Amino acid sequence: MPTIDELAAFCKRKGFVYPTAEIYGGLSGFFDFGPLGAELKSNIKKEWWKFHVHQRDDIVGMDGSIITNPKVWDASGHTAHFEDLMLTCSKCGQKVRADQFLEQALKMQAEGLTAEEVNGLVKKHKLTCPSCKSAFREVQPFNLMFSTMVGPKEDSSAKAYLRPETAQLMFADFKLVADNARMKLPFGIAQMGKAFRNEISPRDFLFRSREFEQMELEFFINPKDPKCPFLDEVKEHILLVCSEEMQKKGDAPKKMSVADALRKGVIKAEWHAYWLAVEHQWFISLGANPERFRIRQHVQKERSHYASETWDLEYEFPFGWKELLGMANRADFDMQQHMKSSKKDLSLFDEETKQKVIPHVVAEPSLGVERAFLVFLFDAYTDDKERGNIVLKLSPKLAPIKVGVFSLVNKLNEEAKKVYDLIRNDIFCTFDTGGSIGRRYARADEQGIPYCVTIDFDTLKDKAVTVRDRDTTKQVRIKISELKSYLLAKC
Ligand code: GAP
Repeated sequence: MPTIDELAAFCKRKGFVYPTAEIYGGLSGFFDFGPLGAELKSNIKKEWWKFHVHQRDDIVGMDGSIITNPKVWDASGHTAHFEDLMLTCSKCGQKVRADQFLEQALKMQAEGLTAEEVNGLVKKHKLTCPSCKSAFREVQPFNLMFSTMVGPKEDSSAKAYLRPETAQLMFADFKLVADNARMKLPFGIAQMGKAFRNEISPRDFLFRSREFEQMELEFFINPKDPKCPFLDEVKEHILLVCSEEMQKKGDAPKKMSVADALRKGVIKAEWHAYWLAVEHQWFISLGANPERFRIRQHVQKERSHYASETWDLEYEFPFGWKELLGMANRADFDMQQHMKSSKKDLSLFDEETKQKVIPHVVAEPSLGVERAFLVFLFDAYTDDKERGNIVLKLSPKLAPIKVGVFSLVNKLNEEAKKVYDLIRNDIFCTFDTGGSIGRRYARADEQGIPYCVTIDFDTLKDKAVTVRDRDTTKQVRIKISELKSYLLAKC
């Protein structure tokens, strides 16, 4: 696996991701996606939406605005609680995120420590500013929401925020969506789009940035009916589990089936276990390495203000096991908060019991698009010494470009262009005439193109082309008349 810096350099070189506006020196925590990156990101989102919305009868989508009424953030608790602790150097003014600084300096788990605990540790271990070695000031909370002004006013009445998560409008608009789509509990609302957090210390390339995208799902159930009817579909699925208890005892994570995790009470709610398995399966179905995933339960101190129980799907990045997807049990926290704050009834009427129900969100799979982007790239990146180039073994579903069309020699370009024109409306492909055929194969490997179609002199006689498989380099001869359906089936 490459290091995160090697991957970042590769991404820039091949046109996946650049530091934003690099000609002006960039801006920390912000990135631009180049031609290949924009395609990969869009394919990840398309696959997520297809899997979570189109292929299910119990989930509908919505697309809320990025800036909304700030009362939403007061009700959700973000205005008051969405903050990290920050240490500021008393001399040079450098600011660091306290938990990350302590984790690095003391090799400990520091998320969720209180201000007193941070101050105590800084004092006890005589920790100083990483830049100038001077003492820190007392730790301070720092709210991560970006604020802005709406309209031409500049007073506090115009203050609004860029959303720090996509989740909240799925609660605020819950009643409209449920009624319009005639949904019955249990059901989910899905949404994807930009989120913004003014991270104190953005780091690790795309992993922790200030502008990113989320793909989130709020799954609502009737709290009186907590059974998951789909459990059988995942009960044999194996997860590497790291529970709160294992962490407290210092035990190593254990592999167990979903059924065992529920039977032993390691995971409490059926729906929570179901969605953890399903999200793991989604990654595997798109070519990720199943062995690099585990689920880790948040210890009490780490849990967000809204969560009664949280599990993260973690991935083993080159910089350690890190959160890829968070899955909190938000219960009825958000619904109650929005009902209280808006004074509107968001409950549903249950036909069976003839009673009003305030739904609970028992699982909220929340995934950052850029973290998924990193995972698929890390698992695809193969330094093939024999070929002498990187081979990006992305699933054909995710590959930015599906097919490369080449002519063996320039004399055949016209013939090759005809083949390219034949398939390009149905399959996203590229027509490459630059350099030797070996050079073009190598370039295609590095762009993650799963199939290369080569037109040679025999094509003029047999009306067939050679199709090369990126991962095996095996070549097959396919009739031009069958090429489109062959490639569509493969991709
Ligand atoms: N609605 C719940 C929520 O937002 P979260 O754990 O704060 O939960 C969910 O975020 C996911 O969003 C994370 O698991 C991660 O994939 C992504 N994410 C969060 N902060 C991020 C950041 N600064 N940069 C990139 N991705 C981020």
